[in-house]
This record gives sequence, structure tokens and C-alpha cells, in this order.
Amino acid sequence: MARSSAWAEPFKIKMVEPLTMTTREQREKAMEEAGYNTFLLKSEDVYIDLLTDSGTSAMSDRQWAGLMLGDEAYAGSRNYYHLEDAVKRYYGYKHLVPTHQGRGAENILSRILIKPGDIVPGNMYFTTTKLHQELAGGTFVDIIIDEAQDPRSNFPFKGNVDLAKLERVIGEHGAEKIPYVSIATTVNMAGGQPIALANLKALRALTARHGIRIIHDMTRVAENAYMIQQLEDGQGGRSVAEIVKEICSLTDGATMSAKKDALVNIGGFMATNEWEVFEEARNMVVVYEGLHTYGGLAGRDMEAMAIGIEESVQDDHIRARVGQVFYLGQKLIDLGIPIVRPMGTHGIFLDAKAFLPHLPQTSFPAQALAAELYMESGVRAMERGIVSAGRDKTTGEEYRPELELVRLTIPRRVYTQAHMDVVAQSVQRVHERRDRITGLRMIYEPRYLRFFQARFEPIEPGAADQR
Ligand code: F0G
Repeated sequence: MARSSAWAEPFKIKMVEPLTMTTREQREKAMEEAGYNTFLLKSEDVYIDLLTDSGTSAMSDRQWAGLMLGDEAYAGSRNYYHLEDAVKRYYGYKHLVPTHQGRGAENILSRILIKPGDIVPGNMYFTTTKLHQELAGGTFVDIIIDEAQDPRSNFPFKGNVDLAKLERVIGEHGAEKIPYVSIATTVNMAGGQPIALANLKALRALTARHGIRIIHDMTRVAENAYMIQQLEDGQGGRSVAEIVKEICSLTDGATMSAKKDALVNIGGFMATNEWEVFEEARNMVVVYEGLHTYGGLAGRDMEAMAIGIEESVQDDHIRARVGQVFYLGQKLIDLGIPIVRPMGTHGIFLDAKAFLPHLPQTSFPAQALAAELYMESGVRAMERGIVSAGRDKTTGEEYRPELELVRLTIPRRVYTQAHMDVVAQSVQRVHERRDRITGLRMIYEPRYLRFFQARFEPIEPGAADQR
């Protein structure tokens, strides 16, 4: 079949799930009850749910059929072996430990590899990843390139590591204090930005000289591989599957939230090429997740994951997936809305500092913008700014991240182009009345990962924030 340049979906829809339509009044009430935190809304009150691409994918008919083939034996389920085959075939890692989701894998891996006082450099933090590194006694150090902090920079590979920064960290602390470099494909908190293959190869050479591992957060590796195929010199003729496998081959182990790229509603794993790490992980998984052949998952979940992994690296799938995200992004650019450039592969990130320049970061502009967008149209987005960044674990001071973003995250294979049009129009309406948005005050702050459960109230118009 001739490939057109359109990104149209390589599937048709077999089953539908009705959406709830609400009135502005209902949404205002729901938002107030949710403490102006979109995480605390009831899904029933949401029209188009762009909170996350995590666990929200539509599974294929093959995956649903796979659920019926679940072998729910406590030990040695055949679905575990199918999953192990898929991980070896498509990612190339030698040893697999399933976990209930990504953070389960992060917990186990961090506890095995990190000693108190260790330093973990990485291409920007992710909330759960960094927390597990810290709970294991490590300190995360950001070694991403400076361009990643600038929402207006058009650099195509903002997920790249700044090798000079890494050299400095090694010089300062010594290689023996660095159990691994933590590399995410793609970088979620930078706005869904990819790392280039050339950068990863150079990183591999540098870390090899110092005897330091690379651990790969491969949550969105297929999307990263697609951007390498599209944009990196000499990579255009290769398949996404080939590039995915090469990325993995440049690393020593991985944690995976299969709820994203791998197209399942729940599941994850830890993978490693080192036998000793695998042995230790098998010991620990029974404490925190379940036996090493199910890791907190049902047999059927592992089957759906094995099939999802295969589907996720197909060129036609990933082209349509990223194509839809870019369609929304281009619409917003055409409307003059400030978004992070280049567009991310799993979502479009509104630049809340540019959108609401009259609000100081202490009145949580991105949180306020996400709340406004919901009240406007029932579109649910997520804050990725000062609330998500949390506090310094030693001083207790709030971090003030450069990036203050609202993420419009697109679930895979779920919404249509018409839904994307509604989203763009809703953002435009909020943009038109942006001057009247006043910001929020935090009235409840949980200890860990505060963005999930924090509560806020609106700052009255005219009132100066006292914080
Ligand atoms: N790493 C990255 C890059 C992620 O985006 C996530 C989850 C995780 C690890 C943790 O995986 O949720 O399966 O435990 N990100 C979700 C999101 C929550 O909305 O971006 P998990």
C-alpha cells in the first residue's frame, strides 16, 4: 500500500465509550470540590481527558484477545515467558522482572544500585524516579543541556545530555559515587523531548571510560526512536523498531512504565543485562511486588503487555500517534498560544509563564491555567511546574523550576481529530481572557509527590499573595 503523507490512524474503531457533557456551573463546582487540582476531579466530570497518557491507551483487538489467554498460575505463568520473549526481541535486555508499574521498577532498581551519599546524574528529573533515588539515599543531579530549560529554543534534541556537565560531576564526586547515569527516552518534564542517538553513543563512550552504568527510563522509547528516525542525520531509512533496539543496546538496564508506549492500562518492568543485579531484583520483587514471574500483575496483563510492546514499535502506529499530537500543537501555534517548542511526542505543553505573565510563580500559574481550562470546557490537563517540582529534601525550600507548564497529554488511540479541534478552541478561549486569571494559593500540601493531592483556593482578584 502506498503511504500517504497524512498521519491518519492505521486502525478503525470497533467499540466506543460515551463521554459526559457538563455545564460551566457543574464544572466550577467540581473544580472547587477538587481543590483546584485536576488530579482530584472525578473522571465522570471530565469531557476530554488529557491528564496523562499513562494507562489511558485503547488496547487493540489482539490485546483484548490476549487477556482471554491469561494463565493465572501463581508461578511460571506462560504469559511471563511471552513477555520475556517480547522484551528480548524488541528491546534486547537479557533479564526481566515484571512490576505493577514503572515506579515499582524504580523502587527496586534504586534500592539495589544506590547507596546513601551516591550521586545520580540524569537528563532532567522525573517525579517518581527522583523520589526513589532519594529514598535510596542518592542525590539527583541534572545534566541535561541548557536548551531544555528554554521553552522557546527550537533545538530538536532537547533530551540530550551535556557531556561537559557530566564530566564536571564525575570530577567533583568521583566515578565510584555514581552508580549509574539515569537516561529517559523521551524527557517528560522537558516537554516530551527526545535524546539523539549520537548523544547517547557519546554518553556511552564517556561512561564506559569511567566504568559507570547507564540506566534507561524507557517509558516512551518508541516515540524517541521515531524522532530520531525523522530528524537525525543518517537515521531516516531505518525502522523505529531497529532504532529502539539500538537505543536499548547502549544502556545496561531499564525501568519501564508499560502504561505509556507499550499500550497497556497497567504494568511495567525492570530489565538488566547484569546477572547479579537480576538476582538481587528477583529477591526484592517478592517483598514489594509479587513473585518474579508476575511482579504484581495478572497473567493476562503480561500477555496484553507482550502484544502491546510489539504494536508500539510499528512505524505506522507511531507515525499516527505522534502525528495527532503534532496536529494539536500546530493548531495552537497557529492561534498564537505559547507552547514548548519543539512539540513533545506525548503531549503539548503550554508555557504558563508566557501565557500568564502577570502571575508570579508563587501563585502557581500552571496549576491555575489547568483549572481554568477544565472550567472552560471540561478538558482536563496537568500541571508540570512548581507544584510538581516539590521541595529540596534537605532545606525544605520550594524548587523554582524554569519550566512552568501545563501538559495536554494525548492518550494513544483514544481521541479523534475533532476532539483535538475542541481542545485547541478551549485553550484559545482561556487565552482570550487570560488577563482576568488570578492564580491560586496552596491550602494543603502532602509530604511526597505533592502535585497528586495538594489542594488550592483561588486568590481573590486584587488581593496580593502573602506567601
Ligand atoms: N518515568 C517516566 C518518564 C514517566 O513519565 C512515568 C510516569 C514514570 C517513570 C512512572 O511510571 O506511573 O507507571 O509508575 N508518568 C505518568 C505521567 C504518571 O503522567 O507522566 P508509573
